[in-house]
Amino acid sequence: MTIHDFSAMKKKNNPIAMVTSYDSWSAALAARSSIDCLLVGDSAAMVMHGLRDTTQADAQMIALHTRAVRRGAPDAFVISDMPFLSCRKGLHHAMDTVEVLMKAGADAVKIEGLAGQQEIIGHIIESGVPVMGHLGLTPQSVHLLGGYKVQGRTDEAGEAVRADARSLQEIGCFSLVVECVPARLAEMMADELTIPVIGIGAGAAVDGQVLVLQDLLGMSVGHTPKFVRKQIAGAELIIEALNTYVQETKTREFPSEKESYA
Ligand code: KIV
Repeated sequence: MTIHDFSAMKKKNNPIAMVTSYDSWSAALAARSSIDCLLVGDSAAMVMHGLRDTTQADAQMIALHTRAVRRGAPDAFVISDMPFLSCRKGLHHAMDTVEVLMKAGADAVKIEGLAGQQEIIGHIIESGVPVMGHLGLTPQSVHLLGGYKVQGRTDEAGEAVRADARSLQEIGCFSLVVECVPARLAEMMADELTIPVIGIGAGAAVDGQVLVLQDLLGMSVGHTPKFVRKQIAGAELIIEALNTYVQETKTREFPSEKESYA
């Protein structure tokens, strides 16, 4: 997969299937599946580190996960998240972060929002680094948004999201993630943009979907958003497997002769 395949897939009406990956193990499994591309999301802060939200991620954290994902999936197209405030401390800071992520193995970076960072996004692209935009619910702004809420519900708010999307396309983003917006708004965005619109909680009429891997495998504990479809009951399967191991250990059923050295 290259950035050209993203637009080619949109033209062929072939939806892009993206999933998060934070480690070498899950990247290797995804590489053996038909997943199109991997996102080293800053959701790693919450999913992998138990932190309260994605404002807690930093460049070192995303780079560490990107290196692991690259080792597990050497040929995958990997997009890494620009962490909280990385585009808000000036061009030098943003470019240093881009450098760290690209050197860790990313093929592209994803940046949340647009306002106030048009020039930086343009400069990153002019420097030869593909940028994926991210609009709608932008979790790095969760405190300003007052929670994880659906965005763009009113005509005015919807039009603002659409205008930002058009600007990101004009600046040169190769694709766009749109999170937690009404399905009709996401559909209009996918229709009017030439770059692929990849949805999460944005309905089916877009150019692709992205989910957090642990959510789609049913491995997350706690609240599951409405838009997640769990493909397996991962948490239950894992807990059951652990309990079976404990029981077999305690009854000395494990290991068997076959599992021991003569
Ligand atoms: O960090 C992340 O996992 C993301 C997805 C939710 C799109 O940005």
